[in-house]
Amino acid sequence: MTTPYIPSAAEAPPMSLLAEVTHRCPLSCPYCSNPLELVRKSQELSTESWKRVFKEAADLGILQVHFSGGEPMVRPDLPDLIAYAQSLNLYTNLITSGVFLTRDTLKTLDEAGLDHVQLSFQDVIPEEADRLSGFSNVQPRKLEAARLIREAGLPLTLNFVLHKGNIERMPAMFALARKLGAIRVEMANTQYYGWALRNRAALLPSLAQLDAAQDVVNAELARGGLAIDYVTPDYYADRPKPCMGGWGRRFLNISPSGKVLPCHAAETIPGLTFDNVEEKPLKEIWENGQAFRRFRGTEWMPEPCASCDRKEIDWGGCRCQALALTGDACNTDPVCSLSPRHNTILDAIREANEKTELPFIYRHFST
Ligand code: SF4
Ligand code: FES
Repeated sequence: MTTPYIPSAAEAPPMSLLAEVTHRCPLSCPYCSNPLELVRKSQELSTESWKRVFKEAADLGILQVHFSGGEPMVRPDLPDLIAYAQSLNLYTNLITSGVFLTRDTLKTLDEAGLDHVQLSFQDVIPEEADRLSGFSNVQPRKLEAARLIREAGLPLTLNFVLHKGNIERMPAMFALARKLGAIRVEMANTQYYGWALRNRAALLPSLAQLDAAQDVVNAELARGGLAIDYVTPDYYADRPKPCMGGWGRRFLNISPSGKVLPCHAAETIPGLTFDNVEEKPLKEIWENGQAFRRFRGTEWMPEPCASCDRKEIDWGGCRCQALALTGDACNTDPVCSLSPRHNTILDAIREANEKTELPFIYRHFST
């Protein structure tokens, strides 16, 4: 029998901070995991607030800052923020669509000390990339961005979000990553939160497509020379993944308006109180914030998790998924075949497989 995990005020520090510096984005991908209610520009944290947060993060022991969004490059102070994070010895990673990357903007980021760029691609077919992103002529801009990143000598990761419409083009995606000189490629099956959950039936691949995808990944791994990050989608797994490495254990997100979240979709969960960096120090929020303590550890768990020998491996799976699919974030993640609500996953798979040609609902700011 394993020793129960006791949540402690002296929680180990998180490793990474996802800084969602804005929700603004020129693209409107239907698989976006941003919340349905997007934060507007007028509500975004100021430059000075972000810098104070980075100082608090470094003092807390955080090692990496991932600049994300939305599209982080819409913020003109991005080079300033990166330079400041660098001065604190934080590793800086930019997650971008690349549509604003030019020789000049990249030079500014490089001079600020940026360590790494993750460049997202929708597809290898230009027309499909336009259709998915809702942005005209997006592919040439991304290809040019990749070329400039490599020319500047910055390490490059390519991100592809996989769904039923593009997953069969994985061989061409790997070929593109090698051709562009990427050191790593992230093949991320769509995570069904936010806008992606709205579009799930239009996006979820079939089991046959996933089996073929795994064969492609295995062949690329055998070839070597490219770091590959491929995770099978939860919906076809037997046991859930430890979402965010376990709630409140390794990661924290800061929303554009300064709310500190245990994960990017946590705001969907009713009954949680999200502290804001404008009101409390990050350390206090991490250690004692109600939202972080609510699902940290194992004491909150219902059966079958409470008596399961995997409970300190997957931490009961994903709280946001449990909420979205069962209506209660306290339930076992229904991905787990031991969950009494596992049928919700089977129903979603059936629905997605029956409906092959569905229109997308594109991400947009509500009016
Ligand atoms: Fe994980 Fe809970 Fe399923 Fe056990 S019962 S495998 S802890 S989700
Ligand atoms: Fe919120 Fe998984 S996305 S816990």
